[in-house]
Amino acid sequence: MEERVGFLPLHEFRFEPSLSKDYLVNAHWALYCDNYLEGFHIPFVHPELNQALDYGTYETVLGDYFNLQVGYSDTSVETFDLPAGHLDYGQQVAAYYFWIFPNMMFNFYPWGLSVNVVKPLTIDKTKVSFLTYLYDESKMGNSAGALLDKVEREDEFVVEGVQKGIRSRFYQSGRFSPTREQGVHHFQRLITSFLAG
Ligand SMILES: [Fe+2]
Repeated sequence: MEERVGFLPLHEFRFEPSLSKDYLVNAHWALYCDNYLEGFHIPFVHPELNQALDYGTYETVLGDYFNLQVGYSDTSVETFDLPAGHLDYGQQVAAYYFWIFPNMMFNFYPWGLSVNVVKPLTIDKTKVSFLTYLYDESKMGNSAGALLDKVEREDEFVVEGVQKGIRSRFYQSGRFSPTREQGVHHFQRLITSFLAG
């Protein structure tokens, strides 16, 4: 995380309660994480976000107990002002999406940070807390992170659909996409190893 966003003045980020909220999702917490961990659904589920991000260059980087999805932009949305020598210097990065096993997300945008904490309530109910930390509010309007609430609703709609779907006797698990689902595969491998251990 330090390597990618350490150049930002993180100590200046301030918690903004008015932009923070809890969402109740009628689905298992791991299904919520599954959805977060793949960009496959973006063109189909999030039309506006898809316009802000360059889907073709969307990238997932795996760590031992975390992974990172990098959202590049080919349009006029706000991107990070990366310093020379930065790993992604010269590229138009609109968002860094860090996921920390098992249930936390740190989403960095040019305006600040959205922390998501995924809390299981029951087998098919999950509370997701969105905690917003502002750095440069002026960059919020035209950013991949400006649509947070709408994108969250769109994700809830499909995740709740998956929750229904896996209960169907017609449901069969399938193979992972090696190019679009590295993050989901990584998550499920970790879950499997911890359950076995
Ligand atoms: Fe989504």
